Amino acid sequence: MLAHRQFRTLILAALGGLTLIPTSHAETQYITGTGLDGVTNKNLALDRTPALYTGDFGDCLGGQSLLNVTKFDAAFYYDNSTILFHLDGTTNIRNESVMMYISVEAYGESRFSMTVNPCTVNIYSMCPLNATIPIQAFALFQVGPQQVSGIPQIAYEVPDLEGFARIQIFANSSQTEIGCFQAVMKNGHSFSQPDSISTVLGIFTVVAIIASFATAAYGVSIPHMRNHYAHSLSVLVVFETFQSIFYSGALSLPWPSVLPAWWSNFAWAAGLVPSAGIVDSINPFVGVSGNASQVGGAGSTVINNQGGLTQQIYGRSLALDVASELYKRTPESVKDAINTLAKRQPYDPNDPYDYNWNGDPVQPGMPLPGDWTGFAGELSALSIPAPNAFIVALIWLLVVLGLVISLLVAFKYSLEGLVKLKWIKQDRLQYFRSHWTGYLSLAILRTLFIAFFSLITLAMFQFAIHGSAGPTAIAAVVFIIFMVGVGGLVIYAVHFRLRFSTFSVDPDRILLRRAKMMGFIPCVMPVRLSQLREEELGEKPAGSIPFVRWHFVDNDANRKNVHQDEPYVKRFGWLSARYRLSRWWFFALWLAYQFIRACFIGGAAGSPLAQVFGLFIIDILALVIIAALNPYEGQRNTALAVWLLAITRVATTGLSIAFLPDFNLNRIVVTVIGVVIIVIQCLLTIALMILIVLGGISSWMSLSRNREYFTSERLEGVRIQYFEHIARRATDQPPPPKPQVESESNSSDKFPELAKEPYFAVTSVRRTPKIEDEDDDYLAEMNPPPVPSVVSFAPGTAKGRPRTASVSSRHSVSSLPRAARVHRASWSSREFSQWQADQDRPNPTLVRRMSGGPGHLRSNSMKMASTLQGQASASSLRLGTPVPLSRPMTPTKEVAEKESTLDQVDETDKEADKSNPDDSQ
Ligand SMILES: *[C@@H]1O[C@H](CO)[C@@H](O)[C@H](O)[C@H]1NC(C)=O
Ligand SMILES: *[C@@H]1O[C@H](CO)[C@@H](O)[C@H](O)[C@H]1NC(C)=O
Ligand SMILES: *[C@@H]1O[C@H](CO)[C@@H](O)[C@H](O)[C@H]1NC(C)=O
Ligand SMILES: *[C@@H]1O[C@H](CO)[C@@H](O)[C@H](O)[C@H]1NC(C)=O
Ligand SMILES: *[C@@H]1O[C@H](CO)[C@@H](O)[C@H](O)[C@H]1NC(C)=O
Ligand SMILES: *[C@@H]1O[C@H](CO)[C@@H](O)[C@H](O)[C@H]1NC(C)=O
Repeated sequence: MLAHRQFRTLILAALGGLTLIPTSHAETQYITGTGLDGVTNKNLALDRTPALYTGDFGDCLGGQSLLNVTKFDAAFYYDNSTILFHLDGTTNIRNESVMMYISVEAYGESRFSMTVNPCTVNIYSMCPLNATIPIQAFALFQVGPQQVSGIPQIAYEVPDLEGFARIQIFANSSQTEIGCFQAVMKNGHSFSQPDSISTVLGIFTVVAIIASFATAAYGVSIPHMRNHYAHSLSVLVVFETFQSIFYSGALSLPWPSVLPAWWSNFAWAAGLVPSAGIVDSINPFVGVSGNASQVGGAGSTVINNQGGLTQQIYGRSLALDVASELYKRTPESVKDAINTLAKRQPYDPNDPYDYNWNGDPVQPGMPLPGDWTGFAGELSALSIPAPNAFIVALIWLLVVLGLVISLLVAFKYSLEGLVKLKWIKQDRLQYFRSHWTGYLSLAILRTLFIAFFSLITLAMFQFAIHGSAGPTAIAAVVFIIFMVGVGGLVIYAVHFRLRFSTFSVDPDRILLRRAKMMGFIPCVMPVRLSQLREEELGEKPAGSIPFVRWHFVDNDANRKNVHQDEPYVKRFGWLSARYRLSRWWFFALWLAYQFIRACFIGGAAGSPLAQVFGLFIIDILALVIIAALNPYEGQRNTALAVWLLAITRVATTGLSIAFLPDFNLNRIVVTVIGVVIIVIQCLLTIALMILIVLGGISSWMSLSRNREYFTSERLEGVRIQYFEHIARRATDQPPPPKPQVESESNSSDKFPELAKEPYFAVTSVRRTPKIEDEDDDYLAEMNPPPVPSVVSFAPGTAKGRPRTASVSSRHSVSSLPRAARVHRASWSSREFSQWQADQDRPNPTLVRRMSGGPGHLRSNSMKMASTLQGQASASSLRLGTPVPLSRPMTPTKEVAEKESTLDQVDETDKEADKSNPDDSQ
């Protein structure tokens, strides 16, 4: 008591001192306070943020409170042991004495409670309630350690404290609850950091988009472009990862508060960018109504309760808790505290004590603050009401489509501008520039494909919550457009390739072979007989089961495979290009999987049990099936999409089962599980960012494929290995276990198979030397003696014409470097296109280094053809490369080389395109 008086004296002295100095209100004022821990601090800013404080508040009688409340703040100042309480509003009750019950609940348990008689703390506007007098209740209570002993120390530190403060107002005459307001409790720490986390994730995503686009746009030979594109990190998978993290919160479960806060960082990837403007403007359309500046349900007619408020008047049977009952339940210590400690502090709006940490009345359509149940709870962390979600995502999708279109158009025309200004070479990104409309439509389709899961889920959710007619109709239309459009396109893409094939069912067997899991656990591995290679048949299997093998057989045995089929890659490469040769159809399976997930997540919102277990089973099945199919050609895509993402999904859904209300777990345990989920998803996010960086480096190497030397010498070896890896992966053959054995046993039986395939048609590494390059080294390289026997391995070219005269053989009769040929006026356009096709061959030196030197190449030409099977080795075979001299790796040479390789084909490219109208589809 004494301490308290000293306090007040101190404050008054401080204030008195301050009044002598002319200060503006904006300046911070300081007071001295003694915290609950006994520490006295002389520098407490008056407007500091309390240790615990309330955020947004709502009406916990579901809009039936007999008060309209515009302000409800409560706070606990740990450092000067003060509880602040503030309630502003109006009522329509003419004359009623009331009691207030203030409580704080955290992690499912009551942590603090206090019963307040407004008359004893001099809240005159509530003593009694008077319809003509606005309520302005402001009180500060001194508390001792005893009263707040229920609040553990950790509550001031833990992010996203799960708790709420509640004020209940009871009428004395009827002893019923006439008002209840609830505000979320905060301590200033949160996992929800959209400004920083979303921005960082956005930047990484932009890197992935640029890398992916660059590999798709750079080059001239489509199969070769596809090879490199397949190894860039898939933007679809990046978005799938973010969306999968975000939509793990769309299950109808009572989430611990940490999870919606964490997930809010990923909402942008699902198209749910919080924007108050958009939400407000579509509120009337989606049927969300209400006054955003108040909560409560006081009617406009004044209730004359002369005979006392009775339950019947209000027609509801809500909380019948009696004020006197409350008193009985309240601990003695609290009663004493109220009777002795409670002191009045009338609220003064011009007070320097004013604060700005407070929350606002909850927005119409949002769940009660402090409740994070289901998708609506997750969306509340974004300030998006559940009925708005679909329309918000649709609006952002349209914005993104507009952005994609304008960026691509701007890119195309800025390239043209730079060419006009001669700031970049005439032929830079020539293929993209001449086919940019094709790229534009594919970019739009790809964006819609990425948005498919999110939009379908939200449309299903819109159906499930029985929203108002307008948005539901739009959701239905969008749903049909997506299902028919994207689904139909995918089916058409599969059909387009298979239309000349026959479906065949062959008998097969599943062999059970003994194997060692992780090298030491003995187990039985099922292997399909048809998938075994010759040399593996030796072992005797532990057993076998009859099985069938379904597959499509091409009617035309000599038809190009799907990744070499240029018209197909041009048209459907955006769907199929990243998958392995034998799994090119995986996009269809993927879409079906996404659709089933969307059904469970969005559509089954009403039945959490079915939703969670259904999704769990689907995710486990998907993990097994996708791992067995192993569809991706690139390693980073495989690591992310096949393993990390699928395992995280299973783990997240599996852990989410614990949140089912049926288990009724302690909320602290629930929060711990929530933190485990955050850790798992955080690791996935970090892994994704690392993969984006690695993918960026690999794509950068892909873009350097026409340069002889790489920017970084240290990465040079890696680059060569990477190109070899790409060439090998494009064949979709398992890596040769023992190279020696392979070259002897396989070369003979692989050779005829190879001859069927125009394998060297993958030609895009080009070099157009300048006339200055005409030095001895260079000419030696350009005019190697032809090796006819090797040329015979090459039955076609990029344009499907038989190769009779290759560039190298023509070069062998002419001493002109290729750059000089361009100026020959008499060439026909056919020759130009032939020439262009020939330009798409790798740098001889690079190839020599890729294949380990000319001698190695010649002696192992068969082996190289079978293992690399790529254009690089093939054209090096054509060249024969018996060049004894290697270009010296002097820095000056490298610079000159870089410059000359950068400038590629000029006008010829355009001519070639005109001569080949099929190109500009
Ligand atoms: C404690 O700090 C708050 C906020 O600055 C202030 O309003 C309140 O008067 C202080 N309490 C005491 C007892 O000084
Ligand atoms: C309500 O306030 C008005 C105006 O201040 C006053 O005339 C009236 O007597 C009050 N009613 C009650 C029940 O206190
Ligand atoms: C308000 O109600 C109380 C008790 O119900 C009564 O004693 C008092 O006279 C009333 N005041 C007015 C102004 O009607
Ligand atoms: C309302 O009821 C409580 C408990 O019954 C009592 O302590 C309080 O004084 C009453 N308020 C008024 C204004 O009579
Ligand atoms: C909303 O509430 C505020 C504060 O109570 C009030 O001033 C305003 O008139 C209300 N608006 C509507 C449309 O009811
Ligand atoms: C409470 O708010 C509603 C809706 O804005 C309004 O119609 C009513 O008049 C208000 N009641 C009082 C007492 O302010």
